[in-house]
Amino acid sequence: MKVLITGGLGFIGSNFIRHMINKYPEYDLINFDKMTYAGNPENLKDIEDNKRYNFVKGDIADSALIEKTIQDFKIEAIINFAAETHVDRSIENPGEFINTDVYGTHVLLEAVKKFKISKFLQISTDEVYGDIEPGHFSKEGDTLRPSSPYSASKAGGDLQVMAFRRTYDLPVLITRCTNNYGPYQYPEKILPLFITNIIEDKKVPVYGQGDQIRDWIHVDDHCQAVDLVFHKGQIGEVYNVGANQDPEVSNLELTKMTLDHLGKGEEMIEYVKDRLGHDVRYAVDCSKIKELGWKKEINLEEGLESTIKWYQSNKDWWKKLKSGEYLAYYKRQYSDR
Ligand code: NAD
Ligand code: DAU
Repeated sequence: MKVLITGGLGFIGSNFIRHMINKYPEYDLINFDKMTYAGNPENLKDIEDNKRYNFVKGDIADSALIEKTIQDFKIEAIINFAAETHVDRSIENPGEFINTDVYGTHVLLEAVKKFKISKFLQISTDEVYGDIEPGHFSKEGDTLRPSSPYSASKAGGDLQVMAFRRTYDLPVLITRCTNNYGPYQYPEKILPLFITNIIEDKKVPVYGQGDQIRDWIHVDDHCQAVDLVFHKGQIGEVYNVGANQDPEVSNLELTKMTLDHLGKGEEMIEYVKDRLGHDVRYAVDCSKIKELGWKKEINLEEGLESTIKWYQSNKDWWKKLKSGEYLAYYKRQYSDR
């Protein structure tokens, strides 16, 4: 099978391509990526010469290039990871998020319709449900109440997918996963930012009081879930994916765990002005994907330890990223806050 994977040079997409190429010798994978600041060819250096791997540089909002790629490679299925993904950047500059996460998804759906693609899997997020009350776990049918420009653009993408299902009977699926962590994550997200700052002996900027709850899942567990939904999910359905940490872990607790692993104390914490519109808690009900046979394999303690070791052993990878545009972004986001 020939599968188009969009956004495959990013964090989750690159981990997923590596997972698929090793597991399915019968698949050809075509990675279609715009190479934004978050798209890094080094994430897939180890497989770039694999004959079953191809790369096309392009924007999912460019319908002519999407159509050409589908025809050139005889694409049969599409998995859409491509997105602008960072909430803080969406607060600074929402327009790019609409272009990629909403309009880009629409362009892909039009191509699915035109070329009768056999399956389209949209990689979405738990953030589309918005803030979740303590004790409640979002179900797939819950109303979408996104809070940030990022989550609103992802919800816009999801609504396009569901509308194309209902109107044109397209073979679509959606996954909505919680916060991922692991190797190759761009050091703007909390864990790679904090781990690399601590290694560099820099303070870690906790927003507000750090009492927000996120449900941390290792990227390998997310990749297994996407693989399962792609192969066994029921067409037209949405599947939540989460670790269901019990007890739940606040940002401050996660920060202290990370400091502890790196042998540093709480004096490294700097409490900074809170994120605008900051969602307090996300939590999803995963019973539907568990019925398909999925369960998480990596607990947070062991996943965090192996992730920290990865950043300790791959300083060249992240030091290059923490330069140029990144430093300007860091200054705007933190020093000028
Ligand atoms: P990322 O920011 O690391 O990577 C995004 C990739 O998409 C980059 O390679 C970038 O170059 C590419 N891209 C961006 N705009 C594009 C465009 N217009 N056309 C083609 N390529 C484009 O993101 P990630 O963290 O790996 O997230 C991947 C997907 O998973 C996203 O759809 C995101 O919403 C979703 N998701 C992420 C998380 C998380 O915790 N990181 C959790 C749940 C869902
Ligand atoms: O829930 C899934 C989502 O998780 C994905 O859809 C997004 O693409 C991904 O970016 C992530 O969104 P978050 O906003 O939850 O991730 P981030 O790492 O930016 O922040 C996690 C929490 O940590 C959040 O409550 C804000 C806080 N934070 C973040 C940064 C970058 C800080 O306290 N300090 C920081 O410097």
